[in-house]
Amino acid sequence: MKERIDIAFMLIMTCALVYFCCLWFPVSGAFAEEEKEQAVFVGWDKCKPCHAALVEAYGGFKRSRNFRILEMRGREHDQQCLPCHTTGYAAPGGFVSVDKTPHLTNVQCETCHGPASLHIKATTREEKKKTLSIPRNLCTECHNTHGHREY
Ligand code: HEC
Ligand code: HEC
Ligand code: HEC
Ligand code: HEC
Repeated sequence: MKERIDIAFMLIMTCALVYFCCLWFPVSGAFAEEEKEQAVFVGWDKCKPCHAALVEAYGGFKRSRNFRILEMRGREHDQQCLPCHTTGYAAPGGFVSVDKTPHLTNVQCETCHGPASLHIKATTREEKKKTLSIPRNLCTECHNTHGHREY
């Protein structure tokens, strides 16, 4: 009799174990995939090895140095100004502050093309194209008034 109960107990435990494994694996699998999917900002120094001409051309354009106009006015910590004068403001891996993320000041490549960590890791041309986009209707997010009215 005791043996029967032991076997029944074992069976129940095994079933429970299998059941919980089945519940857990898809969930943990989904987590892993989410981690893999989420691209973060890297800063434009990382684009140079492959897009040297673009970085040089864009870097010579004054728009690419627009953070200096905040610094000249002592506004480099002003939350009101940072969203449009930095890269990836308030986004995962994006600009936090001048001290913590100095490589993400200014409007850089990733402001328009999105976070590029997955693009850099991608190994094929196809993947490269899929991991970053050509922006549409983006400009007006920042260029939404005729100049500034704050001062
Ligand atoms: C290891 C090399 C490499 C690095 C580093 C790299 N790229 Fe690329 N990038 C490529 C290749 C290859 C393509 C595909 C070119 C093609 O087929 O026209 C590409 C394409 C692109 C495209 C066009 C995507 C499309 O939809 O057609 C953009 C935008 C881009 N890169 C931006 C960036 C930015 C911004 C950075 C830096 C944060 C960067 N890349 C870093 C190699 C690189
Ligand atoms: C909604 C996005 C946005 C915010 C927020 C923003 N800016 Fe700008 N800023 C821009 C854009 C776009 C330009 C370039 C075109 C223009 O002048 O409108 C610019 C240009 C400038 C210029 C040079 C041209 C000019 O008008 O003198 C200065 C200086 C400047 N911003 C300072 C600031 C300061 C200081 C703040 C915070 C009080 C701020 N910006 C907040 C988007 C923004
Ligand atoms: C102000 C927004 C903006 C910024 C900043 C920007 N791009 Fe672009 N980029 C665009 C747009 C819009 C297009 C599509 C142009 C077209 O369709 O002709 C484009 C096209 C591209 C392409 C594909 C076509 C080509 O010319 O090869 C690449 C690669 C690229 N950008 C890389 C970069 C890199 C690298 C940087 C930083 C040095 C950068 N971009 C900065 C908006 C931007
Ligand atoms: C994240 C905010 C942001 C986005 C998005 C953005 N810009 Fe800008 N842009 C700025 C800021 C800030 C300046 C001011 C640079 C300066 O005056 O030094 C600027 C300056 C410019 C200038 C130079 C204006 C001048 O007075 O010389 C041009 C041209 C421009 N942007 C075009 C574009 C286009 C086209 C797009 C879309 C593909 C775009 N921008 C998207 C923030 C942005």
